[in-house]
Amino acid sequence: MPGHAQLSVDLLKEEVREVAKLGLGGVILFGIPDEKDQVGSGSYCADGIIQQGVRAAKEAAPDLLVVTDVCFCEYTSHGHCGIVNDKTGRSDVDNDETLELLQKQVISHANAGADMVAPSGMMDGMIGAIRTALDGEGFNHLPIMSYAAKYSSAYYGPFREAAESTPQFGDRRAYQMDPAAAAGQAIREVELDLAEGADIIMVKPALAYLDIIRLVSERFPGVPLAAYNVSGEFSMVKAAAEKSWIDEQAVALESLTSITRAGASIVLTYWAKDVARWLS
Ligand code: PBG
Ligand code: ZN
Repeated sequence: MPGHAQLSVDLLKEEVREVAKLGLGGVILFGIPDEKDQVGSGSYCADGIIQQGVRAAKEAAPDLLVVTDVCFCEYTSHGHCGIVNDKTGRSDVDNDETLELLQKQVISHANAGADMVAPSGMMDGMIGAIRTALDGEGFNHLPIMSYAAKYSSAYYGPFREAAESTPQFGDRRAYQMDPAAAAGQAIREVELDLAEGADIIMVKPALAYLDIIRLVSERFPGVPLAAYNVSGEFSMVKAAAEKSWIDEQAVALESLTSITRAGASIVLTYWAKDVARWLS
């Protein structure tokens, strides 16, 4: 993925210091463990890479918001966002077993010092299970940003390569949303997540789903709405700019402007550091 690489814990410290100095709103961390297994145990062990990363980031930049992506795809040998079993003989993701391990995962992130958790697996009942677990451990104050309307998108390709999280069989259509689904389905996903206790709602990807961002922002005024300008959206512009076909800065700013114009109040983007420099 152009301009983005995996970081070791000490490079992460340098990165967050720079991010804090640039005045950005926060960072979201994705962990890539040395060893993957069937149940993604690296995601919830106390000394896992994400837990080390959170501690290091908070130490290096105590005032910077540190969000953790909560999922299993980077930690499982099969690359799915949940626990796979063969009970049905079809190697499906087991939604309910995944919820229990998600609870362990968020508690370990909270114990490491995360300021917010961002579950991205699109499991049913995920937000309620996480809220219950956090409240039960005294983390009532910890907000949840839910990837509420996350589409099964081809725009995730560069991220999956960078994060080594490509599914080893099948695809994610059983849990992520169908790009061709009626827009009302996104509304129902958001309603459910809000009812279960989500504090911030996310639509992902952003540019091919500006209609969804607009719809959600109008239907849920007052709910903070985030949009994720994903790896494919970013990498396409990078590639075209490399060929001098387009002006990266102008196209990036225009794209990000359209996302906020559609109604997003928070934007996750790989251009964040560039934007801070361009606008200063
Ligand atoms: C999976 C996850 C994905 C991204 C971040 N976490 C999507 C996926 O692989 O299905 C994509 C981010 C991007 O493309 O920038 N939980
Ligand atoms: Zn995942």
